[in-house]
Amino acid sequence: MTRYLITGANRGLGLEFVRQLLARGDSVVACCREPDAAKELRALAADAGDRLTLLPLDVADADAIAALPGKLPGAVDVLVNNAGIAAEAEVFGEFDAATMARVLQVNSIAPMLLTQALTPLLEKQGKQPKVVCITSVLGSITQAEGLSFGLSYGMSKAALNMGVKKLASELKRRGVALVALHPGWVQTDMGGKGATLRPEESICGMLAVIDKLSTADNGRYLTYEGKTLPW
Ligand SMILES: NC(=O)c1ccc[n+]([C@@H]2O[C@H](COP(=O)([O-])OP(=O)(O)OC[C@H]3O[C@@H](n4cnc5c(N)ncnc54)[C@H](OP(=O)(O)O)[C@@H]3O)[C@@H](O)[C@H]2O)c1
Repeated sequence: MTRYLITGANRGLGLEFVRQLLARGDSVVACCREPDAAKELRALAADAGDRLTLLPLDVADADAIAALPGKLPGAVDVLVNNAGIAAEAEVFGEFDAATMARVLQVNSIAPMLLTQALTPLLEKQGKQPKVVCITSVLGSITQAEGLSFGLSYGMSKAALNMGVKKLASELKRRGVALVALHPGWVQTDMGGKGATLRPEESICGMLAVIDKLSTADNGRYLTYEGKTLPW
């Protein structure tokens, strides 16, 4: 049994991570902003018993991230930095500083702070410890073109990718694997109904990639199929 911690676990990809991990016998600390309102997670908790713990976490709250290790029910092997946001259409001439700062806080800064807060625990108590940052192909500078899907989102995922690259050797030294992982274009609230993948397919692919990770992979930018993306 592997012990996971997932952020943004109440819907979309985070919720599907929880479903598939519980189904295969792993345990999960499912973090979300409002556990009391997370109906699907609470329904899963009824069957999962002590393999599922729900914890409140707003990843934009740096103090809450720092306090998280003290609230965990036990050891964690894999941290999945999944929570993410996108801005509404961002038009040149109308860029908004508060919107840009919020997207960067949630998508780029929070995963770095969570990785920093949990690495000492992963390092000491984790079995084959891993940190997975859910990124996007839209963070690829090589492939970036135009303002489709806004400005902030692509900037935030490129910054996240850089964070993964910058932390790769530090975490390798500590025996913790660390990668940036693109889930594909998935039918969630964020991906929309026209997306090409169902959450089940994306998570199945990502778990197969995560299972095989080692510190030899540190700093890689991968797809849910295990292919390497260009920076
Ligand atoms: N879907 C895609 O096609 C796609 C493609 C590439 C990458 N991704 C990435 O995959 C990850 C999951 O996306 P998704 O498609 O599942 O999106 P989603 O359906 O919109 O779900 C986003 C999740 O993030 C949570 N979240 C947002 N802000 C948060 C905060 N401040 N603190 C804690 N949780 C917060 C949301 O919680 P609330 O319910 O509280 O808002 C929700 O659980 C994101 O990092 C996204 O960038 C998705």
